[in-house]
Amino acid sequence: MPGRTFEGRTVVVTGGGTGLGRATALAFAAQGATTVIVSGRRKERLDQVAAEHPAVVPVVADVTSEAGAQALADEVRGRGGVLDVLVHNAGVFRFTPLAGLGPDTVREVLDTNLLGPLLVTGHLLPYLAPQRGSIVLVSSRAGHNPGPGSSAYAASKAGVHSLTRSWAAELATHGIRVNAVAPGFVRTEAYEANGMTPRQVAALFDAVTAGIPLGRVADVDDITPWITRLADPAASLVTGQVITVDGGMDTGAEQTGQDR
Ligand SMILES: NC(=O)c1ccc[n+]([C@@H]2O[C@H](COP(=O)([O-])OP(=O)(O)OC[C@H]3O[C@@H](n4cnc5c(N)ncnc54)[C@H](OP(=O)(O)O)[C@@H]3O)[C@@H](O)[C@H]2O)c1
Repeated sequence: MPGRTFEGRTVVVTGGGTGLGRATALAFAAQGATTVIVSGRRKERLDQVAAEHPAVVPVVADVTSEAGAQALADEVRGRGGVLDVLVHNAGVFRFTPLAGLGPDTVREVLDTNLLGPLLVTGHLLPYLAPQRGSIVLVSSRAGHNPGPGSSAYAASKAGVHSLTRSWAAELATHGIRVNAVAPGFVRTEAYEANGMTPRQVAALFDAVTAGIPLGRVADVDDITPWITRLADPAASLVTGQVITVDGGMDTGAEQTGQDR
């Protein structure tokens, strides 16, 4: 039985209809959050999550638009106007080698992954509870360790790392903490969303596992505890941090041939 750490709290999780966002929303709900607002563009996916727990409230909102950010702010205001935790999870990955990288892809990735958190935070900041509010950004290991074929994505997540530190410095005077979680590879439908077949996803995960010192790709349940932990009041002196959860890829063990 999980603890009731977030009893009485209000949480927003962008991109909460699928994958890591869905699991994060349900983790906050399981730990007692009174209201967990999940947003995304596909209403049916949000409704499915809402059907899983009575605390979950679906809001159709595109994070790349002012109207989407405003819809989230309206929902928070309508529910008492106090927000305790804001999780920026909505994101898109596009595998595009540099030779084929056009402005539409660059704009889509930067708009979603970087402009999105900026717009949403701007609209929700007036409601973030002073002295206890917390922002958690879902970044990626690619933000500090980019690989080939993902330069727009890696640049967007490097920007997320930077937002994390600058917002932490700026909001500390209000007692609001800002941190990020940077996963390596996580089993979600993001890969199928990029046009990969289940067989191709399985082959990719088999291939990357060889470079993961702890020997496996993450499941969403490997990541969500770090998101809730960073938002937990017990972490009240932790801010401006990017926590990498990648099975040890950043140790460089695979480059040195070190045994697992
Ligand atoms: N899976 C991995 O290996 C991995 C690794 C590192 C980091 N991450 C990060 O983890 C986060 C979640 O990804 P995931 O793996 O769980 O993939 P996912 O299932 O595809 O989730 C992405 C979510 O973002 C939402 N979204 C996308 N564009 C949006 C927009 N313009 N406005 C509002 N919502 C939008 C999507 O919903 P709609 O399409 O309905 O809008 C979807 O629910 C992302 O930030 C991703 O970069 C994932």
